[in-house]
Amino acid sequence: MRTRFRCLVAAGLVAAATLLFVPGAARTAPERPTSVLGDDFLWGVAASGFQSEGQSPDSNWTRYIEANPGWDRLGDSVDFRDRFRSDIALAKDLGVKVFRIGVEWARLEPQPGVWDQAAFDYYDQVVDAIMAAGMRPMLTLDHWVYPGWEADRGGWSNPDMVGDWLTNMRKVVDHFATRNPIWVTINEPVAYIVHEVTLSGTDADEMLHRVAQAHNTIYDYIHQVQPNALVTSNVGYVAGAESQVNGPLMDLIGQKLDFIGIDYYFGYEPPNLAATSPTPTGMWDLPVHPEGIYFALQHYSQRFPGKPLWIVENGIPTQNGTPRPDGYTRSQHLQDTIYWLQRAKSDGMNVIGYNYWSLTDNYEWSSYTPRFGLYTVNASTDPTLTRTPTDAVATYRAIITNDGVPPNYLPSHQPADCNLIDPPASCTTPVTAP
Ligand code: BGC
Repeated sequence: MRTRFRCLVAAGLVAAATLLFVPGAARTAPERPTSVLGDDFLWGVAASGFQSEGQSPDSNWTRYIEANPGWDRLGDSVDFRDRFRSDIALAKDLGVKVFRIGVEWARLEPQPGVWDQAAFDYYDQVVDAIMAAGMRPMLTLDHWVYPGWEADRGGWSNPDMVGDWLTNMRKVVDHFATRNPIWVTINEPVAYIVHEVTLSGTDADEMLHRVAQAHNTIYDYIHQVQPNALVTSNVGYVAGAESQVNGPLMDLIGQKLDFIGIDYYFGYEPPNLAATSPTPTGMWDLPVHPEGIYFALQHYSQRFPGKPLWIVENGIPTQNGTPRPDGYTRSQHLQDTIYWLQRAKSDGMNVIGYNYWSLTDNYEWSSYTPRFGLYTVNASTDPTLTRTPTDAVATYRAIITNDGVPPNYLPSHQPADCNLIDPPASCTTPVTAP
């Protein structure tokens, strides 16, 4: 988390350097009601394998935790591995249509060239349970974790990494294609690169080209095996610096994306950050701009005209489930976010889906303190790992039932006059709310 947190703050500083724009005429809130999203909209929840499953086998990440005694121990995380049926029931009860999980390479291929049938059986049970509950599985092939033996070979520094990665991923695709999953090849490649550079000394440019090659090759393979598949690699939107941070990746993989998967969490607002929290202590201090999701969608609708856009991850962190310093509740944030999705759709952006990150709290890449779950779980202190609903559970259920927030919804948080989510457009042509 420390790495990731530093990365986000650094991105914000890049944004600050671009604060040169003059606010222009705002796009005012529409006079007619903002339409709802439609009953074909793909509501979902998202998680990764490593962060939720527990009983994690040897991997780059179990080793990073071992090497950093100051981080929280992973333990059994929130034990999705044994509790997947009840968690899937919670998702079904929300009414979501899509359930995103990761299929962990380290579990499937514990030794080079040796695949564990029991691991495939486990993921079969999870995928079958998702489908039996009436949801579609969204499967992530690589959510930043690879086997320990691959770490011994140098991870992404190893020229053979792409070949090893593809050998396993082809098996995964062959195994699950008949269930018609939606595929995420590599989760947030740039954040993955930042972690690997920081934690294992990988060369950034080399890794960028290798992950792009891995994505492009498996994209073609998935389409051979599952011709109508929907495949993406989701970008982690970086407010203020999206083109600089994710642009080079998109230049390499943009032709092989069936939809643009966008993860949106944080905005950037230098004066507020300086005034209220000069030294942010954690993710819960980072500024949240729900209207930023509108600009993130606009950014990609302009870069890829007509391509479907899907918010693959979105949510808001608290510190151990306590009220946030800005007073924003999970429920308010969710409603405001969906309001801006509706505005984006009303303005012609082709947004087709939204996944909440995440169904339950989980391991936030070094720490259990930042909490993103619709259901809180005190992984470090509660041996029963009870799932306790936050205020956003009832909210999400109502949103899904009604295909969005009501057309006359009034957002809790007003958008900034000039924000740096996607400069210059987000400052020169801002949005207003009723
Ligand atoms: C990652 C998740 C992470 C979430 C919240 C995303 O960047 O894909 O693994 O937990 O953000 O920080």
